[in-house]
Amino acid sequence: MTPKLSLIIMFLMSRIGILNASSQCHTGEHSIGGMYLRGHTFKTYRVGLPEMCYFRCEEEVTCQSYNFVIAQKICELNNRTKEATPEEFMPDQRRFYMKLSQNRVPLGSIKELPADTCGEIKASEGDEMVDGIHWIYSEENGEVIEAYCKEGWQKINVKGPVCFGAKDNEYGSFNITKSGRVKTMKLIHRSGSVHCNPTTGASYWGCTNPRYGGGDLMTIITGADKKPFLPPAEDLKDLGIPGENAHFYSLPGYHHNSTELVFRTLVNPLFVFNNQEMQIWYGHDWMDLRERDNGGKTCVDVYALYA
Ligand SMILES: *[C@@H]1O[C@H](CO)[C@@H](O)[C@H](O)[C@H]1NC(C)=O
Ligand SMILES: *[C@@H]1O[C@H](CO)[C@@H](O)[C@H](O)[C@H]1NC(C)=O
Ligand SMILES: *[C@@H]1O[C@H](CO)[C@@H](O)[C@H](O)[C@H]1NC(C)=O
Repeated sequence: MTPKLSLIIMFLMSRIGILNASSQCHTGEHSIGGMYLRGHTFKTYRVGLPEMCYFRCEEEVTCQSYNFVIAQKICELNNRTKEATPEEFMPDQRRFYMKLSQNRVPLGSIKELPADTCGEIKASEGDEMVDGIHWIYSEENGEVIEAYCKEGWQKINVKGPVCFGAKDNEYGSFNITKSGRVKTMKLIHRSGSVHCNPTTGASYWGCTNPRYGGGDLMTIITGADKKPFLPPAEDLKDLGIPGENAHFYSLPGYHHNSTELVFRTLVNPLFVFNNQEMQIWYGHDWMDLRERDNGGKTCVDVYALYA
């Protein structure tokens, strides 16, 4: 080996953390033999040495990892890591997989590298993910928006909190900002409260009259057609009074003044589309039941969990 070539190799090895892994505080990445990431390759190169793929990947702002096709010496640069899309991480004896450890741009942190969902960012970045504005697709392979992500949840209301009253069709409305399949939603209390009579006290989400079981809730997310979305219709209860429709529910772990209401995860996620209007109703107002002595207003932030 010529001195020049061995120097180059030393340099390459140190850059990818083989020589100085123990002296650095970050954990170096290792290649994973016999595996590759399917369906996220945006560029391929033929190279001399496998290590060259690492530099090719570092040079591309959207590169997150690469597959190396061993016999043909081909780098396949990927715009995802295996953590972001674990279901696409597949066995292949002819390749190995390597994640970029240094200089990798976090998924969703720049416009050139939008994520599919907040949940994908959480999967990709784990505990390193920060709550805040991230870039995501609002349409499949189309328009890109900046969305507020809190862990895997996407904040849906963008023009301030959504407020709903307890009578006179004072529902709150918000528009969906991303097309896709919603597994569930949550409401975070921001201010205010509602009541269903003057004597039994206020509640963020329900009616404190004892006939509503003490902890039952009445805050319902519907479509613009008033059809219930969350909780789903089958979870709604009635008081058994003839002529009255189901209009309240119980949610284990949540009560009148819970700071947030996380609905149960739907077995069949609901497909929603960008700009679709949704509404938040108080059960009495929704069904026009006993709303005369109701009052107050609750204001919330709305978050969705996409599949
Ligand atoms: C990521 O790569 C896929 C092809 O695997 C491509 O369709 C997609 O547009 C790329 N996304 C970005 C943000 O570069
Ligand atoms: C929802 O979208 C409709 C039509 O695009 C618009 O008229 C309405 O003001 C929007 N509502 C909210 C709460 O942004
Ligand atoms: C809920 O909070 C409101 C406002 O802080 C308070 O007036 C009310 O008594 C509380 N209700 C219950 C059932 O704890």
